[in-house]
Amino acid sequence: MRIGIAGAGRIGAYHAATLKGLPVVDEVVLADALPEAASRVAGELRLEAVPDVEALLDAGLDGLVIASPTTTHDAMIRAGVAAGVPTFCEKPVAAELSSALALAQLERSTSVPIHIGFQRRFDAGYMRARQAVVDGELGFVHTVRATTLDTAPPPEEYIKVSGGLFRDCSIHDFDIIRFVTGSEVRTAYAVGANKGEPYIGGAGDIDTGSGVFVLEDDTVVTFSATRHNAYGHDVRMEVHGSTGDIAVGLDDTLALVSAEPGVAFPAGPTVRSFMDRFLPAYQRELATFVEVVRGERPSPCTVYDGLQAQRMAEACDLSRREGRVVPLAEIPDVEPAS
Ligand SMILES: NC(=O)c1ccc[n+]([C@@H]2O[C@H](COP(=O)([O-])OP(=O)(O)OC[C@H]3O[C@@H](n4cnc5c(N)ncnc54)[C@H](O)[C@@H]3O)[C@@H](O)[C@H]2O)c1
Repeated sequence: MRIGIAGAGRIGAYHAATLKGLPVVDEVVLADALPEAASRVAGELRLEAVPDVEALLDAGLDGLVIASPTTTHDAMIRAGVAAGVPTFCEKPVAAELSSALALAQLERSTSVPIHIGFQRRFDAGYMRARQAVVDGELGFVHTVRATTLDTAPPPEEYIKVSGGLFRDCSIHDFDIIRFVTGSEVRTAYAVGANKGEPYIGGAGDIDTGSGVFVLEDDTVVTFSATRHNAYGHDVRMEVHGSTGDIAVGLDDTLALVSAEPGVAFPAGPTVRSFMDRFLPAYQRELATFVEVVRGERPSPCTVYDGLQAQRMAEACDLSRREGRVVPLAEIPDVEPAS
């Protein structure tokens, strides 16, 4: 199998190494807007590089992995689908809600599978939490808390095209809230502030945000995110039910110090980045994409799923700017697939 990667930056280089390690993948081909970036990563990993994305799509691919900036996802997904190549695209689906809506329509009209990259769906802890909900282990779920605290902000160039904290970072929590609870959002309320890097505020963005969702099944969900948690990359979820509780990310790597006397938990060391935290999840995610490419299963995370997470981000941004509770029904949607 021959897989192409568009974008050889942070996550593109990481996915290249993961794909190279999958036994069913014979060849990985890289392209980047900066040909030297593709050549460098290809050189380091002993893979093939081509000069541009056009050449990549002409390279006889079985599958395409899009790891270029969010602002390019719309055009890249369209190019992959037009070439008839099963396409994996990193989150979020697109920079603009209008693009995500149009791509969800495109997904309806094509037989080419599109898989959106929310790796938490393949993380052992989140999968266990989902199973606990499905199996009724927790009774009825009333409260969920979701957290993503990053060690340090990405560079200014990334922030400018990221879509903002909710669309770029919290969107992982938004997707996994739907995945674990199996419920959609009814209302959103969110706030945010910026006490760190001036370039984040300068881009109209926030470095710290938090919010509350009420789900269609009346579960109350809180989420929080920051770009400034130097002690460790802290990604967690707590699911509380009438008869049980379960926590994702509650192990010795937890980036917290107990204030209780004599308590040695968590013993550390903390995780530094999403790459350390989610390596097995990324491996399972791309192995699953390979199964999609082989026609062995449908996309496990569709554009429709990506659109729903994006609508949650959109509602949070609107809520933050207007200081009010936003019903998700205000945010444009497509009909769910029948
Ligand atoms: N799932 C995750 O955990 C995760 C983690 C990090 C990033 N991401 C997503 O992956 C995407 C890339 O993020 P990153 O951190 O790797 O960014 P990055 O800036 O490190 O890398 C992006 C690369 O794409 C290249 N590029 C720019 N325009 C291009 C184009 N038109 N065609 C081909 N290549 C182009 C750039 O030169 C750069 O090498 C973003 O959408 C981001 O949201 C997902």
